[in-house]
Amino acid sequence: MKDRLNVTEAYLPNIEKYKAYVDQIWQSKWLTNNGKIVQELEQKIKSYTGVDRFLYCNNGTIVLQMAMKSLGITKEVITTPFSYVATTNAILWEGAKPVFADIQSSDFNIDPNKIEVCITKDTQAIMATHVFGNPCAIEEIQRIATKHNLVVIYDAAHAFGTLYQGKSLLSYGDVATCSFHATKIFHTAEGGGLFCQSDELFEKLFLSRQFGHVGDDYFSVGVNGKASEFHAAMGLCVMEDFEEICTARKNLTAMYDAHLDMDNLQRPISLPNTEYNYAYYPVVFASEKILLQVKKGLEENNIFPRRYFYPSLNTLPFVGNYQSCPISEDIASRILCLPFAHNITKNQVEEISAIVNKLMK
Ligand SMILES: Cc1ncc(COP(=O)(O)O)c(C=O)c1O
Repeated sequence: MKDRLNVTEAYLPNIEKYKAYVDQIWQSKWLTNNGKIVQELEQKIKSYTGVDRFLYCNNGTIVLQMAMKSLGITKEVITTPFSYVATTNAILWEGAKPVFADIQSSDFNIDPNKIEVCITKDTQAIMATHVFGNPCAIEEIQRIATKHNLVVIYDAAHAFGTLYQGKSLLSYGDVATCSFHATKIFHTAEGGGLFCQSDELFEKLFLSRQFGHVGDDYFSVGVNGKASEFHAAMGLCVMEDFEEICTARKNLTAMYDAHLDMDNLQRPISLPNTEYNYAYYPVVFASEKILLQVKKGLEENNIFPRRYFYPSLNTLPFVGNYQSCPISEDIASRILCLPFAHNITKNQVEEISAIVNKLMK
């Protein structure tokens, strides 16, 4: 039987380079607590993104929670129903209420025209996801936030490497959070990042990452958001190859575009002035029935795409009162992410595309 092909495959850098960092860790006997390798990775990410106030943390969920806690958000958060469950979970975990504004069908990002009607006296923040690494309507969201005195948190879990208006997408919003999970375009096995715009907030986030204290001085409630030297070492190795990874994914996108029957599929459209990072390859079918047919056909060939994002987060059983978001619910029922990684071959793309094209008919 041929090898299993998953929706994504973690990028594994040259093992000798990784082992050299492991030797360094053994020699220093310093495994975590803001070690030298963590600091080196932070410097590299700061210069790559151009964002100075950056903290490397241990996953892309805790950073959403740290952002909310540090900004004092406990009431209502206007958010997207089309994201990974971590976005809604962070809001609920912090004891706040998610209020869902529906998405745009063009890029699956939150629709800024649906935000203002959701604002109440209890609204404190907008938490939007740059879906699949495509920028939200940043200017419009900022205009609404400024008018109503709201903070903007971007769940930018997919956005590492995307530029918008010539700047890293991570430089927008009061805070942008990133995931460096193994399946992400840039990863540290597990990991996350916090990018922010003010010194005051940075101080709070910095403390919150290390239990709220520095040595014997205790300042605030905190959590353990620290990442280890081993994770940072993986990040440094992946970072070295990052341009190559992006190029491979750009080429893969072009191959899918050329082989899939685009007359029967919808793809997200990036905003003008976007330099996309090619984080995922989502396709939207004409109906959920066709999606299920295609998924089954691929799985029978040992190819495992993923329903991502599914379900629409406003329909989660633990969210409470149902808030209708028809566009998100519709897209979530028809969207599939096809296998997408640096090492997928032209033959594999041809095989996947042939199965998809045949079963869509
Ligand atoms: C949009 C989004 N937000 C948050 C997360 C959570 O990141 P992590 O798995 O690093 O906790 C993910 C992970 O897939 C994600 O896709």
